[in-house]
Amino acid sequence: MHTVYKTPAVTATTRPTRDLGADLLVIPVFENDDLKGERDLDRASGGEYGAAVKRGAFAGSLYEQLFTPISGDGWKARRALWVGLGPRREVTAEQLRRAATIGGLVARQRRFSSIAILARSSPAVPDSRAVQALTEGAVLANYEGTSYKTSDEPMPWLDRVEIRVAGTADGVAVERGRVLAECTNVARALSNEPGNVLTPREFAERAAKLARNADLKVEVLDEKKIAQLKMGMLMGVARGSNEPPRLVVLRYEPKRAAHKAVLGLVGKGITFDTGGISIKPADNMDKMKDDMSGGAAVLCAMLAVAKLRAPVRCIGIIPTTENMPGGRAMKPGDILTSAEGKTVEVLNTDAEGRLILGDAMWYARKLGVTHLVDIATLTGACVVALGKTTSGLFGRPAAWVEQVRRASERAGDRSWPMPLFDDYKDLLRSEIADFTNTGGRPGGAISAAVFLKEFAGDLPWVHMDIAGTAWAEEAKPYQPKGATGVGVRTLAELALDADSWVKVR
Ligand code: BES
Ligand code: MN
Ligand code: ZN
Repeated sequence: MHTVYKTPAVTATTRPTRDLGADLLVIPVFENDDLKGERDLDRASGGEYGAAVKRGAFAGSLYEQLFTPISGDGWKARRALWVGLGPRREVTAEQLRRAATIGGLVARQRRFSSIAILARSSPAVPDSRAVQALTEGAVLANYEGTSYKTSDEPMPWLDRVEIRVAGTADGVAVERGRVLAECTNVARALSNEPGNVLTPREFAERAAKLARNADLKVEVLDEKKIAQLKMGMLMGVARGSNEPPRLVVLRYEPKRAAHKAVLGLVGKGITFDTGGISIKPADNMDKMKDDMSGGAAVLCAMLAVAKLRAPVRCIGIIPTTENMPGGRAMKPGDILTSAEGKTVEVLNTDAEGRLILGDAMWYARKLGVTHLVDIATLTGACVVALGKTTSGLFGRPAAWVEQVRRASERAGDRSWPMPLFDDYKDLLRSEIADFTNTGGRPGGAISAAVFLKEFAGDLPWVHMDIAGTAWAEEAKPYQPKGATGVGVRTLAELALDADSWVKVR
């Protein structure tokens, strides 16, 4: 396999633009931009920028691009990419992030290895957020979809990124952005791995190694330990496979935690989902190698939390197994007993995610978490409801859901709240067990959340369904095809922002 990402050196600088020696200057431009503070840029381009604007070839509309030389005397850079941002007053951090990714990708396509991005101020994005977003975007560009081709040259990597700021060089924002994007790239790489490479044991081993390097405490529970804990739902799913399950437990325990709260993060780690005995159709089944994206998000958010020294204790839990139709597999109609003691009638073995998450959420509570978030590629119904760019949020109380939603907004992982009224509980009624594991097609994403709620105790809890957002079907100028790394930055931003939510209950 080729190296799939590389984290460039990123620095913030206040040097004059003309002294920036990068291979490519990336210049974000607003609509009707008078280039305030950077007026000699047009002259540096030999007037090509102004001429393009004049003849209507470039208007600064969102993600529009113009490539020009820099010919001005005394300018170190020789090339510029002008990237449109639309109206100045409406610019968001996510648009800055994407503009930076466009800059990074164009540079790599042209075989450049360094870029300098101008941070231009806009009213709706605080300067430090802008620097962070530009950094993230540039680092996210230094990623390739996993390739096992024996004759494939990846585009060259960016080695160096400079963020040119007008005020003070904000090293903290750069560090945040660099770490958050790097951890997103790690998650993308894991989710893109095929199921025969990333088995549950391999996932657990890689998770443990990455976590130890980040100074997290790591424990990997094997099938024996899982049996001792009586995790009947996790074991039920694992029965159909020759690969044994694992439960990865990661702990971040800062010496001086600013708060008593403990954030619990639980991520679905199905390394391949065939559906089990309720087997899936062949078309697109290959995509089910990404069914561990929630687990990858938890792992990589924990890495970021440790590297950025979030002010709150965090516990990350990743139940991981295959969902296979082997000779000992669980069957429709089977009854499973969860570690918590509640019984479940399995009506569809393809609704396996909620089963492994339920036992893992119980374990998180047993370890003393005070606030819970789970993340999973859980239901096709969520994709139908919200499409491919917005994750579904479920949970209670509303204040906790809102905290997670805002974290996702900062992260550029869009999400939206869905209802969880008590009426929906009827969907899971079983004749012979406490409840079933499926609620039928209507409201399918909601009944899945209702199932999980049974295992959240009375903690503040949010479930994030990333079935639609974990995988990009097509490449965009600002995003490669394949695994997106959704959720990593959301969960990390949430932990970093503990000051504002520790009182929620
Ligand atoms: N991993 C799938 C959900 C999924 C579907 C993710 C499509 C990404 C794209 C999950 O395990 C599943 O199979 N869910 C079933 C539940 C149903 C049987 C109640 C589904 O959504 O069809
Ligand atoms: Mn499934
Ligand atoms: Zn699944």
